[in-house]
Amino acid sequence: MHPDVEKVLISRMEIDEKVHELGNILSRDYAGKELLMVGILKGAVVFMADLARAMNIDVRIDFMAVSSYGASSKSTGVVRILKDLDKSIENCHVLIVEDIVDTGLTLNYLLDILQARNPASVRICTLLDKPSRREVNVPVDYNGFAIPDKFVVGYGLDYNEKYRHLPEIYVLKKEIYQSVK
Ligand code: XMP
Ligand code: MG
Repeated sequence: MHPDVEKVLISRMEIDEKVHELGNILSRDYAGKELLMVGILKGAVVFMADLARAMNIDVRIDFMAVSSYGASSKSTGVVRILKDLDKSIENCHVLIVEDIVDTGLTLNYLLDILQARNPASVRICTLLDKPSRREVNVPVDYNGFAIPDKFVVGYGLDYNEKYRHLPEIYVLKKEIYQSVK
């Protein structure tokens, strides 16, 4: 295990099982429809890659990058689009793929932006959810794991851009994120 992490919260096997379960449910729900999976950079990259390969239907993928609002200004919930989708989503079935829903502010804002573009539908799929931290009510249609309010890294999730490549989901040691101000 990486020396900066306290423990494994969700193991590789549990992640694999969940991703395949979600892939099956999504394949059933979107059967006969053209699905565009929209991964939110960078956290969702690893989940997106595994989830797309767990689908039994044809899908297209694209990515969006949005700026995080940072701890000091989290009240507004306004996010800036750093990278937009390549194509119009008009009349498309869109599935937003996220790593984690925390306050819900990011997704809430993103959902408004995408809905304004007249897609056939927009749904949300997240691997992780911290329900105790929610500030706005976002409709999460597909959720992998509800987790406690602990800072987690690995499987795409980072702290200061580190740990994204680690294969499981870990609780980060407190001294790691408390030592940097
Ligand atoms: P919201 O708007 O729902 O933002 O508060 C969700 C985003 O916050 C980040 N986030 C985390 N990233 N470990 C991380 O690596 C965590 O425990 C964590 N909690 C929130 C993440 O970027 C997510 O997209
Ligand atoms: Mg993210």
